[in-house]
Amino acid sequence: MTTRYRVEYALKSHRRDQLIEWIKGLLAVPFVLHSQPTAVYQEHSVKLLAVAADTHKRYAEIMRDVENLINDHIAHQHAGTEGKSKLKLLVPSVGTFFTPLLLEDAFNYQDKRRFISRRRFVSPSFNDIRLTLNTAQLMGLIRGSAIDLVTFDGDVTLYDDGASITDDNPVVHRIIRLLRQGKKVGIVTAAGYTEPSKYYGRLKGLLDAVHQDLVMTEAQRNGLIVLGGESNFLFKFDRSSPDLMTYVPQSEWLLDEMRSWRDEDITELLDIAEAALRQCVSNLHLPAAVLRKERAVGVYPLAGHKMHREQLEETVLVVQSTVDRSPVGSRLPFCAFNGGNDVFVDIGDKSWGVRVCQRYFGGIERSKTLHIGDQFLSAGSNDFKARLACTTAWIANPSETVQLLDEMAELEEEEAYKKK
Ligand code: IMP
Ligand code: MG
Repeated sequence: MTTRYRVEYALKSHRRDQLIEWIKGLLAVPFVLHSQPTAVYQEHSVKLLAVAADTHKRYAEIMRDVENLINDHIAHQHAGTEGKSKLKLLVPSVGTFFTPLLLEDAFNYQDKRRFISRRRFVSPSFNDIRLTLNTAQLMGLIRGSAIDLVTFDGDVTLYDDGASITDDNPVVHRIIRLLRQGKKVGIVTAAGYTEPSKYYGRLKGLLDAVHQDLVMTEAQRNGLIVLGGESNFLFKFDRSSPDLMTYVPQSEWLLDEMRSWRDEDITELLDIAEAALRQCVSNLHLPAAVLRKERAVGVYPLAGHKMHREQLEETVLVVQSTVDRSPVGSRLPFCAFNGGNDVFVDIGDKSWGVRVCQRYFGGIERSKTLHIGDQFLSAGSNDFKARLACTTAWIANPSETVQLLDEMAELEEEEAYKKK
C-alpha cells in the first residue's frame, strides 16, 4: 500500500535536495545507535562527552566516505563516464563537481561551531549538512587553487527579499575586501532593469562604498559588475556616472551561443509563459497582476495582498511545464522561479549569467568561481542553474552570506600561513 508519506514525498520531490537528503539519511544511523536521549545531563556529563566523541568520530567517518565517493565521481567526470560512478547510482540527480569537497575537515569545522555530535534529541539536519557542504566547497576551492570570481544573487542573499543594500549592511565591507584582494565580483540577479538608476537604488550602499574607498586601485574597482535579468543586462561600475553604473552593450559581452537566441523565439516563449501565467491568475484566483518586460514576464501581488506558498509553487510548476512542452522551450533557455512573493519567467538563466561574468573578466575557470545564492531547489529556483557553470554555496539569509565570506577570509589566511 502506498503510504501517505510516500505520496507526499513523491509530490514534493522538487522541494528536496537529493544529495543533502541522502547524507542526512547516512548520518541518521549513528545518531539512532549512539545518541543517549534517556541519559540525565548532570549525572553523566563525563559519559555524555565520551558518547559525543564517539558519535563525532562516526559522523566524520561517514563524511570522509562521501568525500571519497565524490572524488571517485570526479575521476569518472575526467574519464567521461560520470554516468557510471557509484555516487550517480546512489544519488541519480547529482551533477558536476568542479573541485573536491573536503567534507571530513568541513564537518570537524562545523561541529566545533554547531555541536552537532553533542545533540541527543535532534539528529543532523538539512541545515547542518547544507552548511557543512558550503564549508567543504570553500576548502575545496581555497586549498585546491584560489577563488578569482565570486558571484552573488541579490534578494535574500545580499539583502532581505525586495529590499536594497543600505550603507550599514555588513556585507558591504566584506565585498570591498574581496575587491581589494583583486577578486572579481558579479551580482547575478533576476531583477531585470535596463536603467542604471534602478540598480543604483538597489545597491546604493555598496556602490557608494566602492566609490569612496581610498585603498582600492582603479582596476580593483572595475572588478565589480551587475548582471540583471539572470543573463540579460550587463552593467559595470563607473565612477563618472551619477548612478555609478554604466550599461554595457550586448555586443561587448554576448557569448557565441547566446547570439543564436532569436528575437522571434524570445517573443514566442514569453507569449506562451504569459498565457500560462494569466491562466493561473484566473484558475487559482490569484490576487496578482501580470507584468510583461523586454526579457521576462511575471506575476506580482496586488497592493496589500500576498500569495501563499501553494499558489506560488503551483504557478511556477504550471508555467515551467507549459513552456517545457512547447517547441520554443527546447530552443531557448529560460528560468521560471518563485521569487517569494512573485513568480517570474526570464529568458536565459544564471548559468549563462555566471558564464558571462567569467568571460567578461578574461575567462575565469569554473573551478575558481563561486556563486552564492538562496535558491537551489531543482524546480522553481533560479540559483540552481548556476551549478552548471561554477561551484556554489547555498545560504538561507543575508547574515549567512556575511558568515560565509568571513569563513572564506579565515580559511584563506590559514592557507597563506601554511604556505609561508
Ligand atoms: P534575485 O533573488 O536577486 O534573483 O531577484 C529576484 C526578484 O527580482 C524577483 O523575485 C522579483 O521580485 C524581482 N524582479 C524584478 N524584475 C525582474 C525580472 O525581470 N525578472 C525576474 N525577477 C525580477
Ligand atoms: Mg534570491
